[in-house]
Amino acid sequence: MIHIPKSEYSRRRKALMAQMEPNSIAILPAAAVAIRNRDVEHVYRQDSDFQYLSGFPEPQAVLVLMPGRVHGEYLLFCRERNAERELWDGLRAGQEGAIRDFGADDAFPITDIDDILPGLIEGRDRVYSAMGSNPEFDRHLMDWINVIRSKAHLGAQPPNEYVALDHLLHDMRLYKSAAEVKVMREAARISAQAHVRAMQASRAGLFEFSLEAELDYEFRKGGAKMPAYGSIVASGRNSCILHYQQNDALLKDGDLVLIDAGCEIDCYASDITRTWPVSGKFSPEQKAIYELVLASQEAAFAEIAPNKHWNQAHEATVRVITAGLVDLGLLQGDVDELIASEAYKAFYMHRAGHWLGMDVHDVGEYKVGGEWRVLEVGMALTVEPGIYIAPDNQNVAKKWRGIGVRIEDDVVVTRQGCEILTKGVPKTVAEIEALMAAARAQAA
Ligand code: GLY
Ligand code: MN
Ligand code: MN
Repeated sequence: MIHIPKSEYSRRRKALMAQMEPNSIAILPAAAVAIRNRDVEHVYRQDSDFQYLSGFPEPQAVLVLMPGRVHGEYLLFCRERNAERELWDGLRAGQEGAIRDFGADDAFPITDIDDILPGLIEGRDRVYSAMGSNPEFDRHLMDWINVIRSKAHLGAQPPNEYVALDHLLHDMRLYKSAAEVKVMREAARISAQAHVRAMQASRAGLFEFSLEAELDYEFRKGGAKMPAYGSIVASGRNSCILHYQQNDALLKDGDLVLIDAGCEIDCYASDITRTWPVSGKFSPEQKAIYELVLASQEAAFAEIAPNKHWNQAHEATVRVITAGLVDLGLLQGDVDELIASEAYKAFYMHRAGHWLGMDVHDVGEYKVGGEWRVLEVGMALTVEPGIYIAPDNQNVAKKWRGIGVRIEDDVVVTRQGCEILTKGVPKTVAEIEALMAAARAQAA
């Protein structure tokens, strides 16, 4: 299995500590277990920031970084070993495992945190934490600070600066290392394979969830624990619902099906959309819209390179789509004016992409100092233009209504431009029709 090596977690902690102010402490909790219903839990997913710095997969843990501390800079509070609990729920690293397998300089039982952490915080000037993202943990942190304050008359010194960790950490996460790109390539490869399998399986008479099952099969077979987000399998007019997740409609000949799905490997997401005809053959209107979206995506790729700014790719898609909609008679007027008045938004109402990484909509600022961010090597993003013609749009001829097309790929900025990670799924009309025809011939 391809994964982030241990040495990388250590490098990240050192890099973060090097940016922290002198005499400071960073405190970050693991994700809580989420209850699904009664005593059933959701599949556990570690918090991305916590995972980024520790690689530690368990809940009920708190990471502490204390740059310059002589007796160890990286401390982990975690669950103790417990033979009975481990019999029921699975193995735990325990404190020994935290040190031996996860590189902690020291580790303590999570149940002792109230006794130990105030003493660690005391005397540090500044506390870095993920303020606001976990209100319960924020309250704990204030409780620990108040323990120190209550001892002020004994000479205890509480910190006097509280800083959001996000700014430093999320800027680090925005730049993907070689190891991260390798994991993202693997997630992309498996997800591409899943889309191919769904294309091959597509038939009228199946349901949207039948294709979702094909995706899930490839995700799990590839070693992914779960999808990176709820898979969208949207056929017919459902393709015009951007975050459709019902996935229970019947697939019909003549309809398109839009699938937006990607798996997660070692907490790194992939995010692919493909749109194809259920029957294996595009109608003339479907083909016209499809090829317009594809042309806009190609124009966007050309705008992704170091020193180009974040919005250039989006602007490229808007121009190609608006001009194409005019050519097809779906918009009337001057292209520049239609762009200025945002007339295209009736058909293309989302942005061309987002940062991609541990979170599908990954962290990182899109603007710096009020200006669009300039792209740099190692930044990963999606490129996902779309056209959605509402089923009830009375301004267009009937033959266009209900067509929804999105094409989404994942890229990493390279020195020359960008690497497309998700090349493994066919994309041109000819390629898709050929792949689907071959699958049908084989099944016949
Ligand atoms: N899958 C969500 C998105 O494409 O942004
Ligand atoms: Mn997507
Ligand atoms: Mn996306």
